[in-house]
Amino acid sequence: MINLSVNGQSLSTDAAPETPLLWVIRDHLGMTGTKFGCGMGLCGACTVHIDGAPTRSCQTALSAVAGKTITTIEGLSADRSHAVQKAWLEIDVPQCGYCQSGQIMSAAALLKSNPNPSDADIDTAMSGNICRCGTYPRIRKAIHRAAEILKTGA
Ligand code: FES
Ligand code: FES
Repeated sequence: MINLSVNGQSLSTDAAPETPLLWVIRDHLGMTGTKFGCGMGLCGACTVHIDGAPTRSCQTALSAVAGKTITTIEGLSADRSHAVQKAWLEIDVPQCGYCQSGQIMSAAALLKSNPNPSDADIDTAMSGNICRCGTYPRIRKAIHRAAEILKTGA
């Protein structure tokens, strides 16, 4: 058994150590908010936080995260009250929605390290998250709005 800390809970799994974290999260732990896009580290749909850093869970072996703190989209907030989630709802960012868990996790990590990102900062930080629906302008706008919410509280 491998022990994990996921969204503040201590969990254990009997998945093989080489199993990609994405499949542990989805199939063993039943948290399906994190998406499978390419499985090759190219699209960002599978992004979670590992010890606070945005990480592609399809490229991360279970054995590499034992004892680390994992946050998935389900754990970003208990009630969609994270500033990024609020901004996403306000700006109505998603189209099909498939890429959005990964986008939100990357955006949340960006704002933690850079609370007031420029357009260029956003484009650089978010460049690994692909959106086939082309929601990039709304993503950028929502990140600026989330920065404002973090600063002003509203
Ligand atoms: S599914 Fe992991 S980067 Fe695409
Ligand atoms: S909203 Fe459809 S892929 Fe991004």
